[in-house]
Amino acid sequence: MNYEHRGGRLCVEEVELAEVAEACGTPVYVYSAGMIRERYREYAAAFAGMPHRICYAVKANSNLAVLALLAKEGAGFDIVSGGELFRVLRAGGDAAKVVFSGVGKSVGDIRYAIEAGVDNFNCESFAEIEVLDRVAGEMGATAQVALRVNPDVNPVTHEYISTGMRENKFGVDMSIVEKAYAHAAACRNLRVTGVSCHIGSQMLDPAPMVEAVERLVALAARLQAMGMPIAHLDLGGGLGVKYQRSEETPSIGAAIGALRRVVEGTGLAVMVEPGRSIVAEAGVLLARVLYRKNNGGKEFTIVDAAMNDLLRPALYKAFHEVKPVVASGAAEIETDIVGPVCESGDWLAKGRVLPAPTSGEVIALMTAGAYGFGMASNYNSRGRAAEVLVDGASYRVVRERETWDDLVRGESVA
Ligand code: LLP
Repeated sequence: MNYEHRGGRLCVEEVELAEVAEACGTPVYVYSAGMIRERYREYAAAFAGMPHRICYAVKANSNLAVLALLAKEGAGFDIVSGGELFRVLRAGGDAAKVVFSGVGKSVGDIRYAIEAGVDNFNCESFAEIEVLDRVAGEMGATAQVALRVNPDVNPVTHEYISTGMRENKFGVDMSIVEKAYAHAAACRNLRVTGVSCHIGSQMLDPAPMVEAVERLVALAARLQAMGMPIAHLDLGGGLGVKYQRSEETPSIGAAIGALRRVVEGTGLAVMVEPGRSIVAEAGVLLARVLYRKNNGGKEFTIVDAAMNDLLRPALYKAFHEVKPVVASGAAEIETDIVGPVCESGDWLAKGRVLPAPTSGEVIALMTAGAYGFGMASNYNSRGRAAEVLVDGASYRVVRERETWDDLVRGESVA
């Protein structure tokens, strides 16, 4: 299952994207339910025969319909805020399969998570351990805790999404981690259950993850020797996807295979927190061409989607392939694809060779299912795009396009 041109028309599953753009307007995010299920099942198959839990990282794509279809597949969820937990519960997710990650959990969010019956907290500092212990005590509860360790492994990815090195804000430094565990184990309202890490995102090579897992396995053994009931390792997310043809990624099966070999035989259960590798390739952003212009010899194609809809190019210089939704057969030109926002950083693709786009035509920005809509904003008072879920031969709007009234909700004139 994939996005592909059939008879010159870009399709996913049994649906033509030109039809979706016509019916739902642009810009619009489109997701394939079938592809999301397929990726999730690849994870499940890779772990077969081993105690495990797949906690989808909600931040990658938090649309309720996406969460609901993963909940139905049996997924757990990795959350980083009370808002994400609210979404998971709304979508029918099971709190008992939720892990609460993040470096700055608020007291309110911790309280909500304990009330809801979240399974596990991944704590990142002494200060957080103390707050969690106090809040759990006030509520007469016991919170299950893993510490997120910073294994100081270079994930070889963009600096903004690299998290497992000493200079990053994330995790507990390896040099003090035993002390932190001893501190947590001594807290009356906490039960230490596991060790967690997440070293980065969009990793194209599983080798750094394998190295991190080796360090985690060794640490778990040391902690068990100290008398701690460590029962699981949480390996985080981070598996990359193919944004451009030149990129090579291992399959989910191969990457998980390499990781499980390190853990097998230890008796530990494994948890993972994949986001991008489940939803990125399942999604595209459709945009309509507004104008073409030539500035000093450079071609610009101005479309109705912008950095507020898809921030990744502006923020990370990320590459998203551009495809015409209907093949036009026009002669190719080299052009930048830019949005209407008043910033030079508002570009979606640079220097692309495409059949010359014409006004009114629809293009697809590929591999946009992860960190696309979720990072969208209302900058320039642009309503956020609609979201559509394709499933087989049918599709439906799973989030309506924002209106101008939505833009000013909660605001008032003095
Ligand atoms: N677990 C934790 C604790 C995380 O911080 C993340 C992502 C994940 C799991 C999921 O990682 P994934 O499997 O999706 O790589 N906005 C950036 C990506 C930021 C990732 C942040 N943490 C982008 O658009 O590339």
